Parts: sequence; structure tokens; C-alpha cells
Amino acid sequence: MSKLLYIESSPRKDRAASINVAKEFLDAYAKAHPADTIETLDLWATALPEFDGSALNAKYNILHGQPHSASDATAWGAIEQICQHFVAADKYLFSVPMWNFGIPYKLKHFIDLVVQPGLTFSFSPETGYTGLVTGKPATIIYSSGGDYGPDSPAKSYDLQKPYVELFLGFIGITDVRRISVAPTLAAPDVVAAVLAKAKQEAAEIAQSF
Ligand SMILES: Cc1cc2nc3c(=O)[nH]c(=O)nc-3n(C[C@H](O)[C@H](O)[C@H](O)COP(=O)(O)O)c2cc1C
Repeated sequence: MSKLLYIESSPRKDRAASINVAKEFLDAYAKAHPADTIETLDLWATALPEFDGSALNAKYNILHGQPHSASDATAWGAIEQICQHFVAADKYLFSVPMWNFGIPYKLKHFIDLVVQPGLTFSFSPETGYTGLVTGKPATIIYSSGGDYGPDSPAKSYDLQKPYVELFLGFIGITDVRRISVAPTLAAPDVVAAVLAKAKQEAAEIAQSF
């Protein structure tokens, strides 16, 4: 029995293209893997701790092998819980809208909490950085108003997909499947076709995920 963690980062819920495609994925996944558990982490309904001065002190304490002060230890405890919860999943599904060529700030906040030494990556001067979240696949559903595909003149503006996949690769998640829902800001018939294609891809990927 595996646990799929679904991380949702659009606040638009029923109107969100990324979430609509994710629902299709999750329905197909549940049918194909009835013994598995699925947990949804809605980043707009979750109170994430600040990644503030104490948390940063704690992160640098770990990197430099220094002890924590009491306030650093408290901040680090909250971060450890988030990382341990993330790492406890066997598989990941992300739905990610493009915001200002990148990602919504709630997802960036989550990434800043989850990328931690000793928890999701390690560092040594000899071997450099090593991701610790290994052997776990991820599917990412990307939505964007415009089209940033390989033939688009705007493709270099796309910092959404490269950033998310750099983050995942850094912590060790390299088995990645991607679904693009784009363009979502277009004529209704174009958007309907884009959604239908993405939903079909999602259902297919979910079967064998
Ligand atoms: C704050 C904000 C910024 C956006 N920035 C971009 C952008 O840089 N490029 C783009 O193509 N679309 C942009 N959009 C449009 C969204 O990517 C598009 O509406 C997408 O469908 C949102 O995903 P969702 O439907 O899953 O919420 C932006 C939308 C919002 C709300």
C-alpha cells in the first residue's frame, strides 16, 4: 500500500484548470490503486510557519554543525514536522498554476520549508549536495494562461516548469511526469480542447503511476 500526497497550489478551486485536471488524475488513480491512500495538502488552507530569522538560524546551524538556541530549536521542530510529513509519502502529485512566469507564493513558501539539510538533502565538501528523497515519482500538472511550449517564442519566459523540476531534482525526485494545461486564457473552444487533452493524459498517467 502506497501513499500519494497531492499538493494543491491554486486558490481558484472549482475554476482552476490545474485542479480540474488533478481531480481527473486522482479519480483514475483511486480506481487503479484501490489499496493506496491519497492525502491532499491544500496550500491555501494550511497555516505554514514563517521561514523567518529563527528558522534560518536553525538551517545554518545544521549546515555549520552548530547547536541550536531554544528559539532556533522551536523553529526547527516545526520545519522538521513538515519535512517528515512530506518525506513520508511514496508518490507526489502537484498542481501548479503559472503566476508571473513562476509559481504561486504559497508553493514557494512550502518549497522554502521543505528544502532542508539533513531532512531532504545533504551536503559535504567532498561530494557536494545530495537529494535524500529518492525512489519516489512525481506527476506535475502545470497550468498557464499563455502557451510556453517548445515551439513558442515565449518559452524562455517560463520559469514555472524549470523551477519546480529543479527543486524536485535537488531533493532527489527525478522520476517526473508532466502534464501541461495551456493556454487557459484563450477562446472557449481552445480551452475546452486543452482541458480535454490534459484530462486524458492525467487519466492515462494515473493508471500506471
Ligand atoms: C497572479 C497571477 C499571475 C499570472 N501570471 C501569468 C503569467 O505570467 N503567464 C501566464 O501565461 N499566465 C499567468 N496567469 C494566468 C494563469 O496562469 C492561468 O489563469 C492559469 O489557468 C491559472 O491556473 P489555475 O486555473 O489552475 O488556477 C496568472 C494568473 C494570476 C492569478
